[in-house]
Amino acid sequence: MFSKAYSAVIHGIDGLIVSVEADVSDGLPLFDMVGLLNSEVREARERVRIALKNSGYMLPAKRITVNLSPADIRKEGTAFDLPVAVAILTAFGHILEDNLKDTLIIGELSLNGNIKKVNGVLPLVYAAKQQGFLRCIVPKDNANEGAVVSGIKVYGVGSIKEAVELLNDIESYEPNTVDIGKLFEGSANDEDVDFSEVVGQAALKRAIEIAVSGMHNILMIGPPGSGKTMLAKRIPTIMPELLFEESMEISKIYSIAGLLDNRALITGRPFRSPHHSITCTALVGGGTIPKPGEISLAHLGVLFLDELPEFNKNTIEVLRQPLEEKAVTIARLNATYRYPAGFMLVASMNPCSCGYFPDRNRCGCSVNMVKRYLGKISKPLLDRFDICIEALQIDYQELQSREKEETSADIRKRVYNARKIQMERYAGQGIWFNCQLSPKNIIKYCRLDSKEKNLLEQAFVKMNLSARAYHRILKVARTIADLDMSEKITAKHISEAICYRSIDGKYWGDWR
Ligand SMILES: Nc1ncnc2c1ncn2[C@@H]1O[C@H](COP(=O)(O)OP(=O)(O)OP(=O)(O)O)[C@@H](O)[C@H]1O
Ligand SMILES: [Mg+2]
Ligand SMILES: [Zn+2]
Repeated sequence: MFSKAYSAVIHGIDGLIVSVEADVSDGLPLFDMVGLLNSEVREARERVRIALKNSGYMLPAKRITVNLSPADIRKEGTAFDLPVAVAILTAFGHILEDNLKDTLIIGELSLNGNIKKVNGVLPLVYAAKQQGFLRCIVPKDNANEGAVVSGIKVYGVGSIKEAVELLNDIESYEPNTVDIGKLFEGSANDEDVDFSEVVGQAALKRAIEIAVSGMHNILMIGPPGSGKTMLAKRIPTIMPELLFEESMEISKIYSIAGLLDNRALITGRPFRSPHHSITCTALVGGGTIPKPGEISLAHLGVLFLDELPEFNKNTIEVLRQPLEEKAVTIARLNATYRYPAGFMLVASMNPCSCGYFPDRNRCGCSVNMVKRYLGKISKPLLDRFDICIEALQIDYQELQSREKEETSADIRKRVYNARKIQMERYAGQGIWFNCQLSPKNIIKYCRLDSKEKNLLEQAFVKMNLSARAYHRILKVARTIADLDMSEKITAKHISEAICYRSIDGKYWGDWR
């Protein structure tokens, strides 16, 4: 007796289909599992045997062999328990084999036969749909997450018994559904902080508005207590809303990391602010069972590194590659995993250990001390910030001023407008923000007239810019023009973008 069920395994952020074959034959009673299995999958044997017994299925003393194929993909995780149990029960004739061929099955078993939730259901269901499966059987607690994928029926089950009943009479069950429109309702902004609470700092606010509009990396540098952290924490209140496609991409990552909780989808742009004691693995991802790190959890959102020089230097240097490629590759003995990491980097720092450099009335650090402090941020990393902006100390008068500051809602309106322009311009190209433009697209979308070209050329020579800095200036100028609702990038836009590139010279330049 032979049967075949289907399941899937996570690889990076995608699902790969795995077939689960069970063969029952006469011979010494034995239960064997083969097919490049990780230890958790090998342990499935025991869980399945006991869970079947406790669900009332007594297996006759036969020789059972289960094979998971293709043999060259490593099978990890606990989601194979249920498909293995189903394949065995089918081989013994408890389930109609016909219903297995269009059905993808995932679920972990507990010893009493109940089905526990697993990570990664969203990408697995997504893969099933792409491979032409008609339905998925998933743990009940993951049903909403799976039901988000349209074009495939998803059924949540709570125990082996329920799975068997469902598989034998599938037509009389209703698949799970979720109302996606409802999920997005009210997700826009329910923060209790607002930009209007920050007094002054107009230049810094403007720079943040530009950065958020085009998802450009931004570095804020300035003395303690000037409002850097305060402003960064208010960034979520002005971020552009998520499109459904973006939401799916982010939710897949959260699903794999087991962070979807009971939400079916992530509907707000991520804002991650890991502490500076974070390890390299937690930041970029990896580990023995590879998992996405903070940079992937911040995909299509913000990664905020407060007090940048306090982070371990090697840890932040690792960001260089993902910052360019917008993805991270993790190599393992048997496979390489690739996780998306298209985040916007927001960082804040003091210019020296006392915090007041270059104000020599307050800063007592020696030149060497300042150099060493600033040196914690390498040139190549610095180069990856499109915008570098100073936070200036605000004075007492300013703090007392009763002048009304702009609210987050006011700023958000302009950000939304700039986003709309970008979406229309890049429709159908897989580009959402100006920061994603490739050098080829920069030539196409950031055309300059001769006056603007001259301006940029002068800056390039005078500031000794790298090719990367040159491209980044053009992208920022594109965003500034979009905020201005101008199709043409004018000299004004270019100058402002150059200005954001020149502040770092004041600190990292050749003053020393
Ligand atoms: N521009 C401002 N408007 C209103 N309050 C401010 C402003 N700047 C600072 N504050 C007040 O000072 C507190 C500290 O500011 P914040 O933590 O943002 O400073 P910081 O620039 O991050 O300093 P550090 O470099 O020490 O981290 C804020 O919580 C707020 O109460
Ligand atoms: Mg701070
Ligand atoms: Zn100092």
